[in-house]
Amino acid sequence: MARDKSKLKLYIDHRSIDKKVNELAARINKDYKGKVPIFIGVLNGSFIFLSDLLRKVDLDIEVDFLKLSSYGDNKISSGNIRLLKDLNCPIADRDIIVVEDIVDSGLSLSFIRDLISNHKPSSLEFVSFLYKKNIANLNFKIKYIGYKIPNKFVVGYGLDYAQKYRNLKSIYILNN
Ligand code: IMP
Ligand code: MG
Repeated sequence: MARDKSKLKLYIDHRSIDKKVNELAARINKDYKGKVPIFIGVLNGSFIFLSDLLRKVDLDIEVDFLKLSSYGDNKISSGNIRLLKDLNCPIADRDIIVVEDIVDSGLSLSFIRDLISNHKPSSLEFVSFLYKKNIANLNFKIKYIGYKIPNKFVVGYGLDYAQKYRNLKSIYILNN
């Protein structure tokens, strides 16, 4: 059966995405010159952005993953975050860069920040491809942001709705 794209409205096309990833990687290359950062991808949503970003990062790096759950099949966070997969590598005294697909309420990143800070890394920064500027509520700064967007539900480029649409190359607004 052909895929129904009638609910999708193109929002950020794949060429713009590619340019933005280049810009973010260039900043990271400059800021982390001579260091060996550990990139921590937040599963599942960040996997495509992370893999694009890392192939543009010209540094010795390591990578690990965390998996959280809070959304289920809904568009709104339950607010109740569970850790489904913890880190596998030691991060004390290391430079850590957490990679997210999108910051919505900010609950997930706040949770991750507490979790990682407990392990005493030597530095901790965040990169998020998208950031919902009107609702994100964080008491720390995200150093690397791809796009600040209004409060719309978006899919594609790793982002899902009920696990679908992650493999779309561009980012779309999902209408009901
Ligand atoms: P937060 O904890 O509310 O900031 O939510 C962050 C997580 O919710 C992200 O890592 C995404 O997995 C998911 N999420 C938030 N907004 C969207 C969206 O517009 N589309 C798809 N997933 C989203
Ligand atoms: Mg996510």
